[in-house]
Amino acid sequence: MAITASLTPAHEVAADWLVVLVSDAPELRGNMRQLDDALSGIIRAAMERGDFNAKPQELLPLYQASGVAATNIAVVGMGPAADWNVRGLRQSMLTGLRICCTKIDQSVAVIVDEAVTEGLSILQAVETFSDCVVSAAVDADVYKAELKRHPFVESTLCLADIADTEDALDAGAIVGSACNIVKDLVNRTANDIYPETFAACAAEIAEDCGLKCLILDEMQLAAEKMGALLAVARGSEKAPRMVKLTYQGAGSDAETIALVGKGVTFDSGGYSIKPTDSMIAMKADMAGAATALGVISAVATLKLPVNLSVYLGLVENMISGSAYRLGDVVTARNGTTIEIHNTDAEGRLVLGDVLSYAVDDGVDGIIDLATLTGACVVALGEEITGVFTNSAGLTDRITAAAASTGEFFWTMPMHKHFEPLLKSEVADCRNVGPRWGGAVTAAKFLEKFVGNTPWVHLDIAGPSWADSGTAWQDCGGTASCVRTLVRIFRGE
Ligand code: BES
Ligand code: MN
Ligand code: ZN
Repeated sequence: MAITASLTPAHEVAADWLVVLVSDAPELRGNMRQLDDALSGIIRAAMERGDFNAKPQELLPLYQASGVAATNIAVVGMGPAADWNVRGLRQSMLTGLRICCTKIDQSVAVIVDEAVTEGLSILQAVETFSDCVVSAAVDADVYKAELKRHPFVESTLCLADIADTEDALDAGAIVGSACNIVKDLVNRTANDIYPETFAACAAEIAEDCGLKCLILDEMQLAAEKMGALLAVARGSEKAPRMVKLTYQGAGSDAETIALVGKGVTFDSGGYSIKPTDSMIAMKADMAGAATALGVISAVATLKLPVNLSVYLGLVENMISGSAYRLGDVVTARNGTTIEIHNTDAEGRLVLGDVLSYAVDDGVDGIIDLATLTGACVVALGEEITGVFTNSAGLTDRITAAAASTGEFFWTMPMHKHFEPLLKSEVADCRNVGPRWGGAVTAAKFLEKFVGNTPWVHLDIAGPSWADSGTAWQDCGGTASCVRTLVRIFRGE
């Protein structure tokens, strides 16, 4: 799949499709004017008639257009200049590209309104282009005989200046394919992806990317005294695993950041069983682990000069004669005793043990990723990741990275007064607090396992999954946070 930038004017590029991203300015200017002139003014005419208004993600397909070397054209709106950002660019780019790859072996050329690339940066547009070209084809149809979309055979970005675009083209494609790995894992079902098969996928990716890979089986987890993780796993026929992946791109004196992922491959809720509507998407309760895996694969492929370790807690939360019960007291790896008040608050039990393992490895900072609480989705909606932290410094790095990737994060309070809400009469703590503030008490629970290590907990229960599709993404796994977390390690 060749992905290139080219000086050839867009109307001269021979391709199955030409995607045109146009701003909603009243007049076409610069490269848009030049293209529209070649098309005898049909875009301008459609805008004058009000048939096309260049609203964000508005689509005008022109089949068998004459005046250009491409066969078909997809004109996509970018909306008003004041709203331009990478997020909008990605959404418009995908809206166009996704209608161009419904047949196999398609080639595509893309041209972005000069006004837009001036408003953002050319390199951001270049990277978004190759990212979208790679990620447009992979979606929720994993098990269909006929895929809805197919990889492009050739994609060309038409630019007036292509100097120094090589790295951005590579980076975008690497990040896009990391996102595809994540979407695919999340979209695959729980009878396909369970702890053992997830760990095998991780081992395969580790092999491909040159990562060190350590997999702990049930016996080794028991030897580690991971009583909280093992309690969750006990009800399932599928044995748990913990995976540790290590990427060493810098010297051993440089900092090591750990990504810890919740990998509950199916969350039935256990004896605190979920109703059908809440259980239906719980194959995606391993999105945190998938995201961490995607990020380290991109960081390693980009050969970034950083040290990164990934820890995945992989379990299935099921009901059976051996499942953990309400009222059980379990002992976590760090010695904390926990009274189980709700078997559906399982993610924090898994993460607690894995976090303490990462802390004992002596990492310099931890970012955990988890589809942890419905409460976080109630608080922030489906598109914003909740941030909970003991470290303003580590949080700032995420916020800064997010500003350039267009993903949304919001820092939540971690006040001390939440702490007594997790008190138990019989053990050091219980695994749930009262109904209110559920996303915070979950984070407060995790905090018990990180000691003084700088730590950020990202609750991705909302953004990691889309219940319904849009023009730019299918329903299912979204690969949220991958782009932002990779950006942190690029140090740009
Ligand atoms: N995996 C769920 C959280 C979740 C909810 C993820 C919706 C994605 C979408 C988690 O294990 C869970 O069940 N949390 C409970 C916590 C409660 C029992 C305190 C919840 O949110 O209801
Ligand atoms: Mn649960
Ligand atoms: Zn869960």
